[in-house]
Amino acid sequence: MLIKRPADIRSSEITDKKLYLNRREFLGATAATTAAVATGVLGSAAFAEAATAAPHGRKLDNVKKSSFSTDEKPNKWEEITTYNNYYEFGTDKDSPSMLARNYKTEPWTVMIDGECNKKGNMPLEDILKGQALEERVYRHRCVEAWSMIIPWVGFPLADLIKKCEPTSKAKFIEFTTAYDTKQMPGLRSPVLHWPYVEGLRLDEAMHPLTILAVGLYGEVIPNQDGAPLRLVVPWKYGFKHIKAIQKIRFVEKQPLNTWQESASQEYGFYSNVNPTVDHPRWSQATERRIGEFLRRKTLMFNGYGDQVASMYAGMDLKRNY
Ligand code: MTE
Repeated sequence: MLIKRPADIRSSEITDKKLYLNRREFLGATAATTAAVATGVLGSAAFAEAATAAPHGRKLDNVKKSSFSTDEKPNKWEEITTYNNYYEFGTDKDSPSMLARNYKTEPWTVMIDGECNKKGNMPLEDILKGQALEERVYRHRCVEAWSMIIPWVGFPLADLIKKCEPTSKAKFIEFTTAYDTKQMPGLRSPVLHWPYVEGLRLDEAMHPLTILAVGLYGEVIPNQDGAPLRLVVPWKYGFKHIKAIQKIRFVEKQPLNTWQESASQEYGFYSNVNPTVDHPRWSQATERRIGEFLRRKTLMFNGYGDQVASMYAGMDLKRNY
């Protein structure tokens, strides 16, 4: 997304993606000895390490299938856990898979604050107690114009919101990621304003498609994908999907999300997937599905328009990007 000189980073990341994953598949498919040779050929010792997907985690019990799932084929575990954006663990796509490996996410509490009756620290176990979990296979579209299909495991954010009893003044929700300078090496870089913040309008947050994910492929969610608790809003660009949520605040005014704060001409609050509104530096009309060669057309609201378009009726989506 961003930073140093966004244009350069973006275009190279986008065009190299296929190549990047092919190299991983290549390494994964070869014996260790050949891999060592390959590393030499590719000229990067770090790359050999990056080729390791997340270790498999604890299996989650009683996960029900959801009718909200797409029947498109999910991306591979290796793709979903080695091609990440998580700047607290570095700005390269493979950095989170290496640098978040030992991130400690237990115990975990979420601080609930703002315009609600039930404020305070909620341990994650309490949030999950008695909570039904579902597998939601969702389309995932990054603003960088790549996409994946991801089999999340999670629960409706609406369930947690109801427990917090928002007051009538609560119009938006603000989410904040953990800020742990000891464990998150990326925080040393001023690439973004830390901690990472995101927000939703209350009706977006209450929408049945909006979930908090705690799992991937039926297992506990890997650190690089946002453990232990991560937002998933499938009709919005990936940067809304804030990871490692440690604070939830109900607010009256629209929150300032991190990406809008860093480059408001490029990233807005709504961030709905919209193939007719280009990013100032690249087209949003098409996307590269990780693992595929040919680009595909990007769908309005990432294909979830039937379910979500009515929330934006009458809004100018070119201005409210
Ligand atoms: N959350 C935090 N805390 N820090 C980040 O850097 N990156 C965002 C989002 N959530 C980010 C974050 C961006 S830009 C994207 S595209 C998605 O996470 C990527 O999610 P993925 O790595 O699971 O594909």
